Amino acid sequence: MNIQRYQELISAELDVFANSLPKSPDNLYEPIRYTLTLGGKRMRPLLTVMGAGLFTDEPGPSLPAAIGIELFHNFTLLHDDIMDNAPLRRGKATVFAKWNSNIAILSGDALYTEAFRQVAKSPAAVLPQVLDIFTQTALEVCEGQQMDMDFESRSDVSIAEYIRMIELKTAVLLAGAMEIGALCGGADRAEAHKLYEFGRRVGIAFQLQDDILDVYGDPDKFGKQVGGDIVSNKKTYLLLTALSRANGYHKENLLNWLQSDVNDAEAKVNAVKEIYDAFEVRKAAEAEMHNQFSLGIQALESIKADPSKIAMIKSVAESLMVRQH
Ligand code: IPE
Ligand code: IPE
Ligand code: MG
Ligand code: MG
Ligand code: MG
Repeated sequence: MNIQRYQELISAELDVFANSLPKSPDNLYEPIRYTLTLGGKRMRPLLTVMGAGLFTDEPGPSLPAAIGIELFHNFTLLHDDIMDNAPLRRGKATVFAKWNSNIAILSGDALYTEAFRQVAKSPAAVLPQVLDIFTQTALEVCEGQQMDMDFESRSDVSIAEYIRMIELKTAVLLAGAMEIGALCGGADRAEAHKLYEFGRRVGIAFQLQDDILDVYGDPDKFGKQVGGDIVSNKKTYLLLTALSRANGYHKENLLNWLQSDVNDAEAKVNAVKEIYDAFEVRKAAEAEMHNQFSLGIQALESIKADPSKIAMIKSVAESLMVRQH
């Protein structure tokens, strides 16, 4: 199987899912269809089936978990956009902005519920482990999301706390997607764990990249509001590095933008970006991203499997590091 074939399989399954949703209540199911139709990169289910593909040529056993993980991811986005007050997602209005927050909460809950139904269709021999990993992952995403929100009102967050936060809110889902795929494909525990470590490192790198794109992305390609993290005082690697490097006037200026009730969002984004540029924080974030990515590749390359299949996973991970959306 090549990457394109895997992607076609996933997209066909997600279409079946979206088309089989009940019609009513419309305000519950229409936002789900809307979200799934907009697609997204669908890299988590791709990682799941590719993880399985290292150990079996049969994609069937890992497909339900792959779909469940993508549904879970979409659930997190519906709630995340409320929490982040984000107007745009995948180039279109977010569910809470197009409908309202209550609708986004409940449609998210429905997606979350369906996610478990799908994951529970995994092969009986590995189902207890799969459900345990999935449940633990879901809980950790909540922990990471709460830390992310708590950090908005703190200015003493350390880089270590930030890395732990993005590990929880983002990386564990990529890690879990890989590990669950591997187990569904018949991998032993040790090999599956190496894929977990690969997903965890690449997931941390992925979120670093997401934070960089939030500031430096092309608004026509990014699909989300550029500058949103600055507006809501997200403690990103960029901001933490700026806080640690700036001194005197610059430091005071930065802290002022973080503390004041800002009416002019554009002025804030521009001012903070200027400080970022003055202290070359983008370079620092990219260096950390590459560092995490290499550690992930080391774990991947230690797996005993067909080198051409490993190379295929590596190429997907590499494409995520140069993405524009
Ligand atoms: C967005 O994930 C949330 C983050 C963890 C940064 P993706 O960038 O994978 O979103 P889609 O699914 O491709 O839209
Ligand atoms: C994403 O973090 C984490 C989850 C959705 C769990 P962000 O808040 O940075 O994601 P985007 O940028 O909105 O996609
Ligand atoms: Mg967000
Ligand atoms: Mg968020
Ligand atoms: Mg983001």
